Amino acid sequence: MDFSIVLLLLSVVLSPALTPVRCQVAVACNSRTAQKRIVIRSPAASELAKLDACQYRVAPWSGQVCQLLVQFDRLELPQPQVNESTRLLECLDFVQVQRFRLCGRSSGQHLYLPIGGGGQEVELHFRLVTALGKQSSAWQLTLTQLECPRSSTKDLVPRQPIMPTVRPILPFLGNLLPRTIFGGASGIGSGSGPAAQLIQSLRTPSLSDLELLAPLGCDQYFRTPTGGIVSFNFAGGIYMPNVRYSICVKGAADSEISYKIDHFELSKANSQEPGPGYDSDCRSTVKTAGRVSDYLSVPNSYLVSRPELQATHYCGNGLNGQELIARPPFVLLFASDAQSSAGETGFQLTYTVRRAQDTMSPAAGL
Ligand SMILES: *[C@@H]1O[C@H](CO)[C@@H](O)[C@H](O)[C@H]1NC(C)=O
Repeated sequence: MDFSIVLLLLSVVLSPALTPVRCQVAVACNSRTAQKRIVIRSPAASELAKLDACQYRVAPWSGQVCQLLVQFDRLELPQPQVNESTRLLECLDFVQVQRFRLCGRSSGQHLYLPIGGGGQEVELHFRLVTALGKQSSAWQLTLTQLECPRSSTKDLVPRQPIMPTVRPILPFLGNLLPRTIFGGASGIGSGSGPAAQLIQSLRTPSLSDLELLAPLGCDQYFRTPTGGIVSFNFAGGIYMPNVRYSICVKGAADSEISYKIDHFELSKANSQEPGPGYDSDCRSTVKTAGRVSDYLSVPNSYLVSRPELQATHYCGNGLNGQELIARPPFVLLFASDAQSSAGETGFQLTYTVRRAQDTMSPAAGL
């Protein structure tokens, strides 16, 4: 092997930034965890075959925890099935977490969930009812609890007296306490005794937490300047009905975002006509039962190939290979109605955040 490659590999292995510290604590089904960061894996196949459900409860590890980042390193469950009586697509085996019910294949996806307000926990509920689900399901989730700065939480959430017995004497010492020694699973401040309560009361959110926190209302949050965004169960070839979530990308005031559309197949109102749909083709102003309403909403955007279009909602198909430019804030909203068809495979985008290039572009005039 080339020596420079060896050096490169060594530097990758040794780089602290690229070797995240993970609590590799085994979390059994039907257990409760209050770890700051934890990896949970599906039980072994022999055990999985005997289960009907597997629940994990996640309790906030400190009074300042406000978001739970759930990374689906691996999520493989059976595909949704059409219910014969309702004709609607539904997940028989699934994971339910808050308002999200996921099945099929979504490895690599993530979700930000609210947690901690008034001691509120998050429950991840895996349900396995089919023989296929008991045989073939597999998951590995990394759960990271994130703390909000105190000033932003104290006004929103009435602070529970979580540590009534110990008062912080020297709050400024919190910055001097090494988190690795005093926090974690086995440090001096671990557990729930008075020492742990004192340590927790002295702590302030770490810089890494502040960077990871998603803006309010973002169910997904991408922080890198380039990346890929894909609908849930894209690998399975169909997106879920009755879904609504927001996807945010980190930006700056003088930046714009380019979305290259690698794949785009949603339904639209006039399904006989192929091709893309915009705004009223995608979402009717009046909500009626059975209406077609699948779309990706991209506010402040324009299509590079058709800058005269003033659309916000995109649907249909035929947009593959096209490029969308949008201005901040970088938020996508994906929504799907109750109906599904084979042509609803989802979307895959590659985004790039960059300095705004053309101040005369249509989006600048919005
Ligand atoms: C189909 O949907 C009905 C009504 O929601 C439900 O009661 C039934 O259990 C579903 N069938 C299957 C096979 O899940």
